[in-house]
Amino acid sequence: MSTPCLRYNESMGDPQQSFAYEQIAGEITRWIESGIFRPGDRLPSVRQLSQQKQVSITTVLTAYYLLEARGVIEARPRSGFYVRTALPAVLPEPEISAPSLDPAEVSVRDLVTMVLRDALNPRLVQLGVAYPNLALTATRKLNRIMSAIARELGEQSGVYALPAGCDALRVQIAQRMVAAGCNLTPADIIITSGCAEAITLCLRAVCRPGDIVAIESPICFDALQTLEVLGLQALEIPTHPREGISLDALRFAVEHTPVRACLVISNFNNPLGSCMPDAKKRELVALLAQHDIPLIENNIFGEIYFSGKRPTVAKAYDRKGLVMLCSSFSKDLSPGYRVGWTAPGRFAPAVEWLKYTSSLATATLPQLAIAQFLASGSYDHHLRHIRREYARNVAELSLAVTRYFPRGTRVTRPAGGFLLWVQLPEHVDSLELYRRALRAGTAITPGYIFSSPPASATATSSA
Ligand SMILES: Cc1ncc(COP(=O)(O)O)c(C=O)c1O
Repeated sequence: MSTPCLRYNESMGDPQQSFAYEQIAGEITRWIESGIFRPGDRLPSVRQLSQQKQVSITTVLTAYYLLEARGVIEARPRSGFYVRTALPAVLPEPEISAPSLDPAEVSVRDLVTMVLRDALNPRLVQLGVAYPNLALTATRKLNRIMSAIARELGEQSGVYALPAGCDALRVQIAQRMVAAGCNLTPADIIITSGCAEAITLCLRAVCRPGDIVAIESPICFDALQTLEVLGLQALEIPTHPREGISLDALRFAVEHTPVRACLVISNFNNPLGSCMPDAKKRELVALLAQHDIPLIENNIFGEIYFSGKRPTVAKAYDRKGLVMLCSSFSKDLSPGYRVGWTAPGRFAPAVEWLKYTSSLATATLPQLAIAQFLASGSYDHHLRHIRREYARNVAELSLAVTRYFPRGTRVTRPAGGFLLWVQLPEHVDSLELYRRALRAGTAITPGYIFSSPPASATATSSA
């Protein structure tokens, strides 16, 4: 069969919007869907496609590998790539969550302690916590940069980066946030010890013990733990696996309950992977602004999108200074560097004071190393690589779930991040599954700990 004569050229798609390999993978998928290539057919050779599309061999190979990971095509040794004869069944996604609409005190500590203990056990296959794959971090490169800076600055590298963090890093963050739709100045940004500290400081700046915080359901257990420690009540709001928090349910909640703050992970949430569309982010900001409720927006996964362009943040639509944007470099660069940040809008003086009184400052050298990594352009190169790898890993893991999990399983289809939320049939107890998986040498996280009070038969895993 001859190759269909669609040529790749830059004008077919804004290169900023989508990588060449994704465009090619998309095009091959359309050839298969429209019957140009049928199950069992041999696809054009890598060399042929690379010449025809005027892209590199690596680009074509990456597109083929992606489709292979998605279960659409298969490689046959010394023969090439073929359309699979049995295309994978696509598992349904979980439905929108249905938490209790009453605020509840949070109590997940025992379960979280157990999961974290297993997460540190090197003998287990780690599918349970949202730690990045160490091979996909930039720790080695950052270590080299940090050593060079330490040698060059000598004792000056040991000064406190008071009060809000190193200027060099705040400038880089402000520049990067332009792509997410934000006009932040370096002075708007406060550097923190990871995203966890950013969120804690923001919650402390706007809430008092006993206050109610509206959150997505399910939500990552770190957030629940923080609420528990601060004595705050969680009001769980139904959340769609692709589009995020339900605005109708949130509207009802803020009209009937004294909600003091709202906390969301707007892009590639942990654990669902949901990503709120732009219009929804705008509406969320407007709804909360009507009631003068601060929005704490966690954007820790924002840079790990699989295709297209970087999603915007809700902060981009903030006109009243009510959105407190939080993030860190823990998922994409190095979790152990503990460098995060917040742009807390009108609450900046309170957050800066809390930062000062709780830990004085964030360590100086890791900030300088990350600032230099960003300024050199290496960050973008690194991100391009890890986005491809995580896209592939997530596709492979979903394929394995599709093949091996029982009838009635549902699985999310995230467009970024590195987490999958797997919803098992009603009769499966995820806590029991967690125990059995441990005995078999694998750590997962039971869905229980993503809700307070604990919820349903779900397990999550990271790719
Ligand atoms: C959604 C989310 N927010 C925050 C954190 C904590 O981030 P950091 O390590 O930067 O404090 C995590 C870590 O797993 C997370 O998954």
